[in-house]
Amino acid sequence: MTTDAKILSALRANPDGVSGAQLAEQLAISRAAVWARMDELRKVGYDIEASPHFGYKLVSSPDALHADDLLARLGNTKVVGRDIQVFEQTTSTNDVVERLARDGVKEGAVVFAESQTKGRGRLGRKWSSPTHKGLWLSVLLRPDLRPQETTQLTVISATALRRAIKTVTGLSADIKWPNDLLLGGKKVAGILTEMSAETDRVRHVIIGIGVDVNQDASDLPGELRPIATSLKMESGDEISRAELATEVLRELDTDYARIGTGKFPEVADEWEAACVTIGRNVTVHIGNRKFRGRAESLDDDGALLVRTEHGHLERITGGDVILEK
Ligand code: BTN
Repeated sequence: MTTDAKILSALRANPDGVSGAQLAEQLAISRAAVWARMDELRKVGYDIEASPHFGYKLVSSPDALHADDLLARLGNTKVVGRDIQVFEQTTSTNDVVERLARDGVKEGAVVFAESQTKGRGRLGRKWSSPTHKGLWLSVLLRPDLRPQETTQLTVISATALRRAIKTVTGLSADIKWPNDLLLGGKKVAGILTEMSAETDRVRHVIIGIGVDVNQDASDLPGELRPIATSLKMESGDEISRAELATEVLRELDTDYARIGTGKFPEVADEWEAACVTIGRNVTVHIGNRKFRGRAESLDDDGALLVRTEHGHLERITGGDVILEK
């Protein structure tokens, strides 16, 4: 953890205040250095009071994402969030993480952007990523999975994201296979899983997560208004993006560990219980192919099993699945 992350962590652990002397000792730096770091943190928007009585006290944090703050809030995780970077703007966080992956960076690295100029969704769609309104992040994983098993990662991302949203906002999102989170039937978050693999070995997987957090209806592009929503629009409250970001990483770390310890079936049960696709009549589009059927269940690798109109069981790992009314 960086010095700023340690300072923010100590301030949060001591809401009534912590003395400069105590901080200096904990961090093995001078009291003047502590004072200088507090000044820097104030410059990026942290309201930190100082008094001879209580020492330093954190009054409020800015509505901006800071890597040090996220690291401090997260504490120790096994893999996800070992390293966090925040960009003010980037093309797509998935692209940044792709470069990190090629440079050999360890799994668990996370990249956030306050805005993306070329945010993308599944099937080549654009992903609107307005500044400071949502969470746009990508996570680098190097799982010990075969390429056909990586659908498991999309499944755990959806369950982790759903639990994080529930904890922070109290809202229970529905899951639409494979990667959409819905509130009141409208999309609030999506997951884009990209993979680099050889025939039987995964090199790395990038989990890109987009959550519409604090948009008002007027912030949504016109064409999205009938089909998209935000956590603020559904809860009526402004949501702390830093709190949600931390919770997402913590839950993703938990579910990633569940895969590693053979507990994916438990996650799959949780996913199925929240999924609005299972048991519904659907139309499936895969490339130029289109067919209708009934979504029956998930298989052991997280693929969707659809019974077609002709009675065959199809295993779906990609494409678009549209729920029929
Ligand atoms: C979808 O629902 O189609 C997936 C949307 C994924 C959007 C996120 S935002 C962060 C990351 N960077 C991207 O360009 N896309 C993903």
